[in-house]
Amino acid sequence: MSHKYPKTVLCVGKETVNTVLEEIEKINRFAHADIIELRADYIKEEELTEENLTKIKNASDKEILFTLRKQEEGGQRKISDSVREAFCFTAIKIGFEYIDIENSTPKDMLDRIMSEVRKAGRSTQLILSFHNFSETLESEISEKFNDIKSKNPDIIKIVTMANSEADSNFIIDFVRSNVSDSVRLALFCMGEWGTTNRIQCHNLGSALTYLAVASGTGTASGQLTYDEFVSNPDIQKTTICGLIGKPIRHSMSPLVHNAGYRDQNINCKYILIETDDIDFAIHYIKSNNIRGLSATMPLKIKAIKFLDDIDPLAEKIGSINTIVNTAGKLKGYNTDVVGAIRSIKDVMTLKNKKVAMIGAGGAARAIGVGLIEEGAEVIILNRTVEKAERLAGDLKCRFSGIDPAKLQDCDLIINTTSVGMYPRVDESILQEIPPEAVVMDIVYYPLETKLLKLAKQNGNETITGFGMFIYQAAEQYKLFTTNDPPLEVMKKVSLERLSELGK
Ligand code: ATR
Repeated sequence: MSHKYPKTVLCVGKETVNTVLEEIEKINRFAHADIIELRADYIKEEELTEENLTKIKNASDKEILFTLRKQEEGGQRKISDSVREAFCFTAIKIGFEYIDIENSTPKDMLDRIMSEVRKAGRSTQLILSFHNFSETLESEISEKFNDIKSKNPDIIKIVTMANSEADSNFIIDFVRSNVSDSVRLALFCMGEWGTTNRIQCHNLGSALTYLAVASGTGTASGQLTYDEFVSNPDIQKTTICGLIGKPIRHSMSPLVHNAGYRDQNINCKYILIETDDIDFAIHYIKSNNIRGLSATMPLKIKAIKFLDDIDPLAEKIGSINTIVNTAGKLKGYNTDVVGAIRSIKDVMTLKNKKVAMIGAGGAARAIGVGLIEEGAEVIILNRTVEKAERLAGDLKCRFSGIDPAKLQDCDLIINTTSVGMYPRVDESILQEIPPEAVVMDIVYYPLETKLLKLAKQNGNETITGFGMFIYQAAEQYKLFTTNDPPLEVMKKVSLERLSELGK
């Protein structure tokens, strides 16, 4: 996310680990919740252990902020500096994405924590904070801002008590003048002006907006609840897109889409919604006003009957991989076809070309519809001939088993099966490849599959599955944002990730 776009922080201040975990479970369902703040000073002493903190960290895919505030700074109980320091080190070790430390922390302790944060690379970010629980002093805010900024934390946090509208207005002006792409400042006030102040500071790009899970569970006065935040029409909310399906943890889609949003400076984020329950998925999309979804197995077919509208091409294929939500109306698309056809057309034309497609599953059905629309002459080759026959019947094309004789004089051979996909990288659906044909694999990890290696050695031109992946993602990006996708940026981040995975 660009720094201009604030993140929401859902505060969890509970005494026992079990109640913390229950609260996190609720927050996991909040699409607009970016960060969970664990107020560790609320947890009773005997339960505050490394083991329990690890359990808490593992309870959510969302970013977690660790705060162990001392009593003089508004914390819940007396905790010595040495204990606080030790727990900060533990939180960094466990991999909490943020820790919040008071600017008043003794310098040597702060230096040690900051050096530990730096050692952890970018995995933990430091929020250096100042609170004044009784008043808002203009000179103090400027002084603390400069002091904290000079220490170079990831986020500068300043929170004061506003006792008048003038106090609140001063804070709003301060945010307006000081937030920039390079300065991440979380500034807002507490007290009776807090609510309107927080809304305005959020809209002006104050880095963090703290929210309570429900009324009565907040950790400071003036905090909005999550529901109030989501339903407030004056708040500029981040547009949310995401991926539904299961399993999806290893998907590259968040990386690719979020890189695009960052590049184009769009207040949008792409999240993972891991579920195979279509009723839950549809409810989640509507209740959280999710703008766009990529859909993968096992929801590509199941989702269709819940849609208000379907693109004719997707209807013809009988499966969707994309849902666009426009004012509560859901429309389905299939961008796999566009992705596959575009990646082939980078290399060759399709009209009147002979194409052998190996496999008769969902991917084959989608690509087959696209090939036929382009005027290609298709033959489906599949291990289970009955399945090839069924698909060929629907597409009105020829079929056979995987018979090498049928590959002779083909212009293009496409592997639509998962054979050769990591970890089975030494397998190839074909051992002999006829000369002349262009050979395409839809598997993109590894980028060069065994089949494509064999084809290259044989002197054939090849098309990797990466083109189909990136073009289908770009097409989704366009549907979600209506912008032209930043293709080069999307390609770059995903190729980098694939090359890291290959190491
Ligand atoms: P998708 O929806 O991703 O296309 P699918 O519906 O499970 O996945 O389809 C998998 C395809 O790969 C099928 O055509 C399958 O052949 P069968 O119909 O004979 O099962 C094919 N496939 C998978 N593993 C295979 C293997 N080891 N050898 C040959 N074909 C294989």
